[in-house]
Amino acid sequence: MTADIFKALGLGKTNSGTYLGRDEWSTSTEAGTLQSINPTTNEVIAEVHATSAADYETVVARAQEAFKIWRTTPAPRRGEAIRLCGEALRKHKDALGSLVALEMGKSKPEGDGEVQEMIDIADFAVGQSRMLYGYTMHSERPGHRMYEQYQPLGLVGIISAFNFPVAVWAWNACLAAVCGDICIWKPSNKTPLTAIASIKICNEALKAAGFPDIFFLINDAGTELAEKFVDDKRIPLISFTGSTAVGRTVGERVARRMGRSLLELGGNNAIILDESADLKLAVPGIVFGAVGTCGQRCTSTRRLLVHEAIYDDVLATLVKAYKQVEGKIGDPTDPSNLMGPLNSPAAVQQFLDSVAKAKASGGKVETGGTAIDRPGNFVLPTIISGLSNADEIVQHETFAPIMYVMKYKTLDEAIEMQNAVPQGLSSAIFTQNLKAAEQFLSAAGSDCGIANVNIGTSGAEIGGAFGGEKETGGGRESGSDAWKAYMRRQTNTINYSDSLPLAQGIKFDL
Ligand code: UN1
Repeated sequence: MTADIFKALGLGKTNSGTYLGRDEWSTSTEAGTLQSINPTTNEVIAEVHATSAADYETVVARAQEAFKIWRTTPAPRRGEAIRLCGEALRKHKDALGSLVALEMGKSKPEGDGEVQEMIDIADFAVGQSRMLYGYTMHSERPGHRMYEQYQPLGLVGIISAFNFPVAVWAWNACLAAVCGDICIWKPSNKTPLTAIASIKICNEALKAAGFPDIFFLINDAGTELAEKFVDDKRIPLISFTGSTAVGRTVGERVARRMGRSLLELGGNNAIILDESADLKLAVPGIVFGAVGTCGQRCTSTRRLLVHEAIYDDVLATLVKAYKQVEGKIGDPTDPSNLMGPLNSPAAVQQFLDSVAKAKASGGKVETGGTAIDRPGNFVLPTIISGLSNADEIVQHETFAPIMYVMKYKTLDEAIEMQNAVPQGLSSAIFTQNLKAAEQFLSAAGSDCGIANVNIGTSGAEIGGAFGGEKETGGGRESGSDAWKAYMRRQTNTINYSDSLPLAQGIKFDL
């Protein structure tokens, strides 16, 4: 199985983690080795050589060279490059989806779904390449024309997380590429293989059509290279996806050098269930949101706020549904399993610590709460009741399948609870009451970047802008006008008259 995936994606037992451009992968071994570990067994899948300091310089220098060509390549032509990447990804969807499942631990359908997100954003970016629109405006001066245009920004650094090891790169890279930028990607050191495979797939397609190198790859065995990357003035934009703690440091360091950062950090996403909620929709929405990807999406459902009138029924139904999931936990590459392992033994420890903390605060484990006694990092999907929204553990994002269920009396109270956390990524309400839905979506409603009605908190489509407020970092990626983050904006005023009137009517007669 692993051998077939490796063959289809051109991977070996040991791999270079550095794409230097010009069809060259570094052969340097001096920067140490990363191990790709299968979270289902904790066995090593393959080794990856990290990027040396010298290779990093080569990457940046070649990316700068490539930018000179790429920035003047017409945007629709850049779109054609991404169209070819999308086609190549379509061909490799099954193998790459399986590799995502193998290396990251999410289920095979979710791994395939992630590759589908790459394909979708590629399609989106192709269209966007013909729509890098700027406004024109009417000048207050006669014989003058004003407009604004968006120009390529330069080198874009993409630091992605283990949980969406390929899709989040693609959201950034496909848009940045049609915007005329060159991307340097540093994936999570837990998922180097999926990154190497993605770069190989795209670069092969680009090379065959004679396009320059637009996607570079670096890998870091520790954190030294990543820090250098974040501090590098030659990289005007760093797009970072990961924890709030690391994102805060990235944001501060990039700001110190007056660079731009695009931050996609933690969530603490809630679903509100009011008295009218259609449980046929709500239950699968909640369960997928809470246990999908083993609770390791930044959009995972972490809190469930249930109207007191239906609380007991909902809890009993959910516990039953969770027991069904328990029968389908296992090797994520087997498509019949709904839930795979957590990504690492450390994540299992964090899960156990959070359950212990929740219990110490008075929480009751309704189902789950323990690790599963088998090889790999498997835990039971967990529901905890009896805590208050203000409890420290409820305020905290644990990247694991733990959901806190709480009661409320009025919708005002539910919305207040939903908003009363440091994070602001995703949120949802299940209701059949129009007024409740509209209140939830109003200016006095959810304060999150994503607010849904009658669907859960996770599984966003690529067409909308993705991101959140407060400690989620404020960045927006993927659809809508997120492309603007990858361009510099310029206002242009052209005088085609024979005089030089000054703005604001100022007189300056020489
Ligand atoms: C993430 O968890 O980092 O909305 C991204 C979703 C996915 C993306 C999640 N489309 O769940």
